[in-house]
Amino acid sequence: MAESEVEVIHSWSAPRSLSTSLMYSFSQRDDIEVLDEPLYANFLRVTGLDRPYREELLSKMEADGDKVTNDIIFAPGKKKYRFCKHISKQRLQGLTDDLMKKGKHFILIRNPLDILPSFDKVVPPSFYELGLAELVCIYNELREIGKAPPVIDAAELQQDPEATLRSLCNDLEIPFQSAMLKWEAGPKPIDGLWAPWWYKSVHKSTGFEKPRKYPQPFPFSLYDLLEQSLPLYNMLRRHVKKKSSLLSPPLPNPDLPVPANEKLLAWVGDEIVTRDSAKVSVFDSVVQGGDSVWEGLRVYNGKIFKLEEHLDRLFDSAKALAFENVPTQDEIKEAIFRTLIRNGMFDNSHIRLSLTRGKKVSSGMSPAFNLYGCTLIVLAEWKPPVYDNTRGIVLVTATTRRNSPNNLDSKIHHNNLLNNILAKIEGNNAKADDAIMLDQDGYLSETNATNIFVVKKGRVLTPHADYCLPGITRATVMDLVVKEQLILEERRISLSEVHTADEVWTTGTMGELSPVVKVDGRIIGNGEVGPVTRRLQAAYKKLTEQSGVPIPTYLKT
Ligand SMILES: Cc1ncc(COP(=O)(O)O)c(C=O)c1O
Repeated sequence: MAESEVEVIHSWSAPRSLSTSLMYSFSQRDDIEVLDEPLYANFLRVTGLDRPYREELLSKMEADGDKVTNDIIFAPGKKKYRFCKHISKQRLQGLTDDLMKKGKHFILIRNPLDILPSFDKVVPPSFYELGLAELVCIYNELREIGKAPPVIDAAELQQDPEATLRSLCNDLEIPFQSAMLKWEAGPKPIDGLWAPWWYKSVHKSTGFEKPRKYPQPFPFSLYDLLEQSLPLYNMLRRHVKKKSSLLSPPLPNPDLPVPANEKLLAWVGDEIVTRDSAKVSVFDSVVQGGDSVWEGLRVYNGKIFKLEEHLDRLFDSAKALAFENVPTQDEIKEAIFRTLIRNGMFDNSHIRLSLTRGKKVSSGMSPAFNLYGCTLIVLAEWKPPVYDNTRGIVLVTATTRRNSPNNLDSKIHHNNLLNNILAKIEGNNAKADDAIMLDQDGYLSETNATNIFVVKKGRVLTPHADYCLPGITRATVMDLVVKEQLILEERRISLSEVHTADEVWTTGTMGELSPVVKVDGRIIGNGEVGPVTRRLQAAYKKLTEQSGVPIPTYLKT
């Protein structure tokens, strides 16, 4: 049969990633020929690295990388396709661009937890020998030239070879062939001459073998290398279409309420990190016991509204909970400013500021384990007010009572939010926007997330801050009520007073002033936003436009 141009499929992986099994799999096809690491001799020649088979390899394989690329990888052939198994580190700088530009590419990854012990049996592994950094470079370079490669994970190949190969073939735009699922045991003519050193176990295989049910203990001499490699593996793993997991199949990626938040930078501990890396330790007090305090702040027009008030409440909460090694107010302000500036967030943004008791030296409840100092988290997001403040919201009353100071004082703004979350679940089940929470005597306290105000015959009423959080928006609105020369009463309010009110609204940083048009099925007033609510909404808007702590570097346009 005459030779003609072939379509080259490049497989890129770290060593010990089932790449030889995959080469055997492709070699079973009737339309493909395979090349085992054609750039290996060039790699040994240029790097001078030693291998037991170095001299033999250099004498028998073409060792000029460009010649290999032009005359072997892209040479004409008798089959339609040519599969090239490549180990990422063999892609040395200076090789012809054609290697990346021509043909189809895909990336095979494997968890370093599995690679490292396997590698260790043949050659002592090193970060360089693993080549994971080079694999990330290859991914990025291909993406930059508009050829983002499919990424498959060896774990998937083992778990469900057929589905993984079908999906890979589909991405490579070649038909799947079921012959790819089986091959004969033993050495093959296509093997590189290094096979006796590296392919002992794959020679015993006749297909992709099911993974062991339980892994082997990890050799802790390789712990540092694992720590360096895992982030790179995880970075590539994000591009795998189908991810296997011990748990039930992962849910599809959900849409974000504000898509722009997909790429944001958050402050965690003492550094600014990307959204996916914004994580706290499993030893952190917030994980161990919800042992953390928080604030929600809003950014308007280059300024942080009520910053000092929020920081005061944060420090009071931390003190009430006897936190130690708390950062200073100035340090926290700096972290907030830096996070906002890095994100370019100067308006229409919300900051979820958390201060946890910090990482513990061992899991457990006691603050005596907290020897690292507090963990600061500044999570800033693009976030317009979360409620419909134009047409109003609907509330139901929850059966879950708001915490009493007998149990957990609501003046501490802590992250142990289960009391509120249980009420919110009742609200969600009733398809309401939020749920009203009563105190232990059945009087109004607040909603699961906001403070509450009631207007009856011109008087503005709000509950004492005994069971509710002393909200900063609540305090601001109470001031505005007085400034607007309305009558303000802070007193016990019963639920029937809410049901029969002329107007009701809620307050909170996240949602500002939100008119309530229905409570427990009762229409409030005439079911529309009332005049007092409108007046206070306007006064609040004016205040947010005018006051606040300026964010350094913000220049008004
Ligand atoms: C339970 C609860 N009530 C009320 C509020 C409103 O407080 P602020 O006005 O300080 O945002 C919040 C906000 O954190 C809250 O969690």
